[in-house]
Amino acid sequence: MFIVGLKGSFRTRGNSNTLMATFLEKAKILGADTHCLDIPNMDISPCRGCGTCERKGFCPIDDDMQKIYPLFRKADIIVVATPVYFYGPSAQIKAVIDRSQALWSRKYIYKLTDPGMKQRKGIIISTGATKGKNLFQGINLIAKYFFDGISAEFAESITCRGMEGIDAVRKDPTAISDSKEHAEKLLLPYLKRKKVLFLCRENACRSQMAAAFAKIHSGHIIEAESAGSSPAKEVNPIMRDVMAEKGIDMAFLKPKSYSDFDYWRPDLIIQMGCGDTCPYLPGIPVEDWDLPDPAGRSIDFMRGIRDEIEEKVILLQKDEK
Ligand SMILES: Cc1cc2nc3c(=O)[nH]c(=O)nc-3n(C[C@H](O)[C@H](O)[C@H](O)COP(=O)(O)O)c2cc1C
Repeated sequence: MFIVGLKGSFRTRGNSNTLMATFLEKAKILGADTHCLDIPNMDISPCRGCGTCERKGFCPIDDDMQKIYPLFRKADIIVVATPVYFYGPSAQIKAVIDRSQALWSRKYIYKLTDPGMKQRKGIIISTGATKGKNLFQGINLIAKYFFDGISAEFAESITCRGMEGIDAVRKDPTAISDSKEHAEKLLLPYLKRKKVLFLCRENACRSQMAAAFAKIHSGHIIEAESAGSSPAKEVNPIMRDVMAEKGIDMAFLKPKSYSDFDYWRPDLIIQMGCGDTCPYLPGIPVEDWDLPDPAGRSIDFMRGIRDEIEEKVILLQKDEK
């Protein structure tokens, strides 16, 4: 499973960042792959309200936010850590939130479903200096709409009041252990899933569709990844179109090599039908679906392969029950 964390305070060893680091360390120990983004030191412009995302489905601003969209799409859990600044998040986190309008547009204007959405959870970690009961209300309200826009369920708000100095959470008797406990509780259901790696040659069509359908139909019991033995530069645009016909959003995906999965040992490998070019990973059961390669064929052929893959994935889910 994959967790992306967004550090929202400039104070590297500050309170919210410390709680985030604790959460991610625990997640790593439990077996998650984690990636932490130092948002204040990234180049992320505020949203300009140009409307391009609503007209075209993507943000035209060429900065580090372009690296964050694919990570949001890849993540099972998105953790946002922020200090309370005037009852809201830090300006750097707010810039990320506003720029996520591009994902909101794909969901609500283009009516496209992100395959990972059913399993994705959003977590807020926040600290403030005062102790009032409304201290986190602004952040929680923003988080609710932010997580919905990026297709994540707002699962938990881990908050700590009375955190004045830079070291306050370290001195707090429960803050650090609470953060670890939250991580453990949230991760356990994810870690029980069976890991299935869908493999083909270029990871541009068949294996990408298979992983997407597995996330949609069986994400609660199967952790699906896809890869290729000789990855193409981009995913196939016709594949993207035929998946969009079914309302499935295949944006932000890049073909990957199976060697990118060194850290992730699957329980089952499903080959799409590329014969000898598929890698052999010792000790892992392999199934071959023997599907013809739709690359370079007609759009109707691609539709046929899409539907066949979906049927096979649904049967796979039944086998797992
Ligand atoms: C610009 C600014 C605005 C702040 N606004 C609030 C506030 O509205 N309420 C509050 O309780 N604390 C406020 N604080 C204090 C921080 O939320 C608090 O010190 C927090 O623990 C800092 O987190 P960090 O160590 O992760 O940066 C503010 C601090 C700054 C610098």
